Amino acid sequence: MQNFDYCTPTRLLFGQGVVEKLPEVMSRYGKKILLTYGGGSIKKMGLYDMVKELLKEFTIVELSGIQPNPKYDPSVLEGVKLCKENDIDVILSVGGGSVLDCSKAIAAGAKYDGDPWDLISYKVKAQAALPIVDIITLAATGSEYDCGGVISRTATNDKIGYVDPLLYPVVSFLDPTYTFTVSAKQTAAGCADAMNHIMEQYFCEDSTILNDGFMEAGLKSLMVNAKKCIEDPEDYTARAEMMLTCTYGCNGIYSLGNSPTGWPLHGMEHVLSAYYDITHGVGLAIITPRWMKHVLSEKTVDRFVKYGVHVFGIDSHQDPFTIANQAIEATYKFFESIHIPMHLKEVGIDESRIDEMAKHVADNEGLENAWVPLLRQDIAEIFRASL
Ligand code: NZQ
Ligand code: ZN
Repeated sequence: MQNFDYCTPTRLLFGQGVVEKLPEVMSRYGKKILLTYGGGSIKKMGLYDMVKELLKEFTIVELSGIQPNPKYDPSVLEGVKLCKENDIDVILSVGGGSVLDCSKAIAAGAKYDGDPWDLISYKVKAQAALPIVDIITLAATGSEYDCGGVISRTATNDKIGYVDPLLYPVVSFLDPTYTFTVSAKQTAAGCADAMNHIMEQYFCEDSTILNDGFMEAGLKSLMVNAKKCIEDPEDYTARAEMMLTCTYGCNGIYSLGNSPTGWPLHGMEHVLSAYYDITHGVGLAIITPRWMKHVLSEKTVDRFVKYGVHVFGIDSHQDPFTIANQAIEATYKFFESIHIPMHLKEVGIDESRIDEMAKHVADNEGLENAWVPLLRQDIAEIFRASL
């Protein structure tokens, strides 16, 4: 077991109705709020009006229209400008992971005099950030409990995971009823994303019984509850468990003490969504079984056996490679069963830029140090197998 230094300073307020505490929470951080949100889902579900009513004593400046795969230009730049012009005290992000990720980059940019891209691209280390409070409306990314944000810069085909402990939300409101309106497609994509966050930690050199059990339970919880949420979008119990399982996803709690893995699937998927603006969870679901097949070997087979037996209940009295291949097939079939398109061609990605994207990943993501090292050719092979 490896040494670790762990602290998640985010306060979680979980359950139906917790948003009533919003005025009390916001008053701790100041009077002037930048309210950030996306394309209108929060207005349709009535959350926007509720937030405005609860915060009528505060000064609110708004940044709307933050897109999925949030863009540096215009959203981050506009948000930073609004914070500086209005002397904002605190950001309130209401929406999915994209709105929150964008808000994190704005929070750091607001306290920096230069071009915010300097921070996102790690050219300069942020010295401060505005406090961030969020009401998360989509169970997927875990951004509500981690210190990362993923920002796309269309001009350069970059999609960068910007991570800094300054970016932990100070408070996250998790009310499962706000996820009732999430479409079947986004519910499935969120499930695939969160499953992948667990897999990125599970497939490693060195783990513990404790962590493996936690992660295997997380995977099973996501598979069972995502199906229930798709069948009955207002199943509170299923939405609630899915939300909490997703929340744990990216802040490291699933794998404290485990060896690092390099998160290869995210390294590859971020390039797919940077070039083609596809839904992150869908891209991950497509490449996951192909990556599994690519890295399966004498060295890794035991890990796949454990995964297959414990997560899918595959008969353990078989040859290890048989179990491993059945586990990979079961992973594929599960994603298919929640109606995720399982080929890149179905989401508009063809052969034409595979080599260019593979080079981009190899040059920027450090996957030569992943659990199973991936070089440019490996990445291209995984993309081709996913077509
Ligand atoms: O824009 P609005 O109108 O709000 O609609 C959104 C959007 O179209 C909609 N939506 C959100 N909540 C809803 C809802 N629709 C109905 N009812 C609700 N309650 O769903 C669509 C997708 O929203 P988005 O925020 O993009 O989804 P998600 O939460 O999956 O976030 C994806 C982004 O997060 C990044 C991804 O790369 C991607 O850019 N990630 C962030 C991570 C992190 N910060 O730790 C880790 C992840 O690995 C991931 O990379
Ligand atoms: Zn993800």
